[in-house]
Amino acid sequence: MINYRHHIFVCMNARPPGHPKGDCASKGGRDTMAAFQEEMEKRGLWEKVGLNGCTCLGPCQLGPTVVVYPEGVWYGKVGPADAREIMEKHIVGGQPVERLFLKTLFDQVLGSGPPA
Ligand code: FES
Repeated sequence: MINYRHHIFVCMNARPPGHPKGDCASKGGRDTMAAFQEEMEKRGLWEKVGLNGCTCLGPCQLGPTVVVYPEGVWYGKVGPADAREIMEKHIVGGQPVERLFLKTLFDQVLGSGPPA
């Protein structure tokens, strides 16, 4: 049985060009995933941490979107450098990266929290 300490999901969803919701692939979701993969390899975490690319998680306008379980921490606008920071501070260090919290980004960008 797999018993990961953390499980990371990275949205890599792609939509047709011009789609009103946009998508994480066009915002660099694949580069974000590659950065997570590199960190997993470098740190030898494949046995302890799950990492999966996924389709749409919902908050497309603030993608690339990442969610980390078991805490259920949602991150937005996660680029490759952010992915490396999440690995260092959250996954290894146990301290989620507050500045990338989806709630924080919604407040900054849209002036309110995520839709209910
Ligand atoms: S396309 Fe990534 S959250 Fe919707």
